[in-house]
Amino acid sequence: MTNRRDAEQRLRELRAELDRHNHRYYVLDDPEVPDSEYDRLMLELKALESEHPGLITPDSPSQRVGGAPAAEFGEVRHAVPMLSLDNAFSEEDLQDFDRRVREKLDATDIEYVAEPKLDGLAISLVYEKGVLVRGATRGDGSTGEDVTLNVRTVRAIPLKLMGKDWPALLEVRGEVFMPKRGFEALNKSLAAKGEKTYVNPRNTAAGSLRQLDSRITAERPLDFYAYGLGEVKPALSARRHSEVLTKLRGWGQRVNPDIRMVKGAEGCLGYYREMGEKRDALPYEIDGVVYKVDRLDYQQELGFVARAPRWAVAHKFPAQEEMTLLKAVEFQVGRTGALTPVARLEPVFVGGVTVSNATLHNMDEVERKDIRIGDTVIVRRAGDVIPEVAAVVLARRPKNTKRVKLPKTCPVCGSEVVRPEGEAVARCSGGLFCDAQRKELIRHFASRRAMDVEGLGDKLVEQLVDEKLVSTPAGLFRLTMKQLMDLERMGEKSAQNLVDALAKARKTTLPRFLYALGIPDVGETTAADLAKHFGSLEKLEEAAQGYEKQRLKHAGSPARDAEKLLKELDLRKVEGIGPVVAEQVGAFFHQAGNRKVIGELRKAGVEWPAMPKRAAVGSQPLVGKTFVLTGTLGTMTRDAAKERIQALGGKVSGSVSAKTHYVVAGSEPGSKLREAERLEVPVLDEDAFLRLIES
Ligand code: IVH
Repeated sequence: MTNRRDAEQRLRELRAELDRHNHRYYVLDDPEVPDSEYDRLMLELKALESEHPGLITPDSPSQRVGGAPAAEFGEVRHAVPMLSLDNAFSEEDLQDFDRRVREKLDATDIEYVAEPKLDGLAISLVYEKGVLVRGATRGDGSTGEDVTLNVRTVRAIPLKLMGKDWPALLEVRGEVFMPKRGFEALNKSLAAKGEKTYVNPRNTAAGSLRQLDSRITAERPLDFYAYGLGEVKPALSARRHSEVLTKLRGWGQRVNPDIRMVKGAEGCLGYYREMGEKRDALPYEIDGVVYKVDRLDYQQELGFVARAPRWAVAHKFPAQEEMTLLKAVEFQVGRTGALTPVARLEPVFVGGVTVSNATLHNMDEVERKDIRIGDTVIVRRAGDVIPEVAAVVLARRPKNTKRVKLPKTCPVCGSEVVRPEGEAVARCSGGLFCDAQRKELIRHFASRRAMDVEGLGDKLVEQLVDEKLVSTPAGLFRLTMKQLMDLERMGEKSAQNLVDALAKARKTTLPRFLYALGIPDVGETTAADLAKHFGSLEKLEEAAQGYEKQRLKHAGSPARDAEKLLKELDLRKVEGIGPVVAEQVGAFFHQAGNRKVIGELRKAGVEWPAMPKRAAVGSQPLVGKTFVLTGTLGTMTRDAAKERIQALGGKVSGSVSAKTHYVVAGSEPGSKLREAERLEVPVLDEDAFLRLIES
């Protein structure tokens, strides 16, 4: 479960990104990421929103179909919204879809119409009294663009319906696409004229249909398949989708000859495999298949969710793979300091896009797959992930390949790179000192359970680092009112609030401070254990550095001998600390950059009360006493007060009862104070509370 604050931040990022991709894809016909990336973001967004339904906003990309129409074309409002399809990426997804359908209908052996999923763009064609009067793009699903003139140039689209039995108003929906051969020929002639070529048939079809000059459209080899209906008056008598398709065919519409009727999930999967095998031989691009519940009364019963029908699903084809040359491997530093090896490739066209970089995941993967520089590798662009190097073509390995080596120092900050024994992920030990990790660390440092700097949100951290006002957590405490007020969207009041919050955050506890430092693998519990064991930062630093020195000294000896020695050191005597965490702690305090930041933090006035003596553990003065906290304390946060009470053996409860020993009331106390008075529980003001815990 993602916490609410992190979820809010991630939702903001995802929505902004999806909005941007929507615009580029739907309005500009110029996507900057492959569909699979879009799908992935959308999946993440939906997952996060279902985890936090309270955070769903009406303008979330999950709540709408596409992007706004471009201004150049006239607008067309769709009488019946043009919806999208949900995706199934696996057999399991498909089984889930079928199960949901069966359960909702309380029926078995559902009949589906299985259709190729054409990779073009959706079109609405309105026929009045059998004559084509309007063609429109999907746009955002409710409003599209009027492309009537362009649609008329597509040979496959009938200008008049055949036969007689069509309804007076008939809206046909289908896909305009460009066949593979037409696409290749077009690109060839564009290249010969020195013009920009298109990336894939889908973009070409979209770009061609959205030409303001329909004469250009007319020269483009566009094609069309009908797959459904929009507004129809009077209503048709059809009872099945398959019947609709037959009628459409009869009226002269082009309907895909590969459409078939199948039964149940098994039938769907059979069709999926069949089309998968046929895919490359088809004259047009498909990116999957679509299954639609055949009975229209069932469709009605199933209805829609958000932007997609419950009675249909798009079953996407998996990754496409291509071979290419691995030219070099570079390492990227992530926000947590993790080093990711990235393959620089001879550009290769895979899954509809040109790929020149692909992830190698981590060093374990590199070693497991025995990937070397100079190898011919198989690049995979999977349906929902970024391109990856899937395998090596060993038969093509030349003599002079070079092994991939993990750098000894961070490519961003030059600090030592650590990869604990048996761990897949290597990390930069630069911590607070490494540029790539700065923002994440400052965010963590200020977070509620760490230093608890109220009001220092992710956006502000971003701003402060980008404006170079803060480069380490210590920098936060050097911020001036003037610097803050010069920031965009920052008024005097918010600046003052932040300065006050920082002043308050200076008074902390040792466990919180250690946790706030963001040492890899040191969460709240480990931080508390370290604080309790050593009692002071100085003692911990001493032990950590001693540990790191010994570790480095014995790094060359057999692992078992080194471990025997390290195990006896003080750092390893801490409850719950094994070799992995000890190594992280050791490396962290060994790093000069980290020590410098800690020194600056202390100089800036960050302080904490001494930890209770270890010997005193057995004689904790508050054992057996239950406290309830209410209102705001001036000298510490409620979480800090809670920690102090617990450190002294006391308990903190959320509600007042006859068993409560003390209620601690800060300013603006809530109903708990009244409850305490009613039950005659002793009430301590802040001064009295401080005297009690400090005595
Ligand atoms: S039916 C309410 N059938 O896929 C259902 N769509 O992700 C509407 N597409 O916008 C769509 N082939 O552009 C349907 N046989 C097919 C399709 C198909 C391609 C496209 C269409 C739609 C998108 C949905």
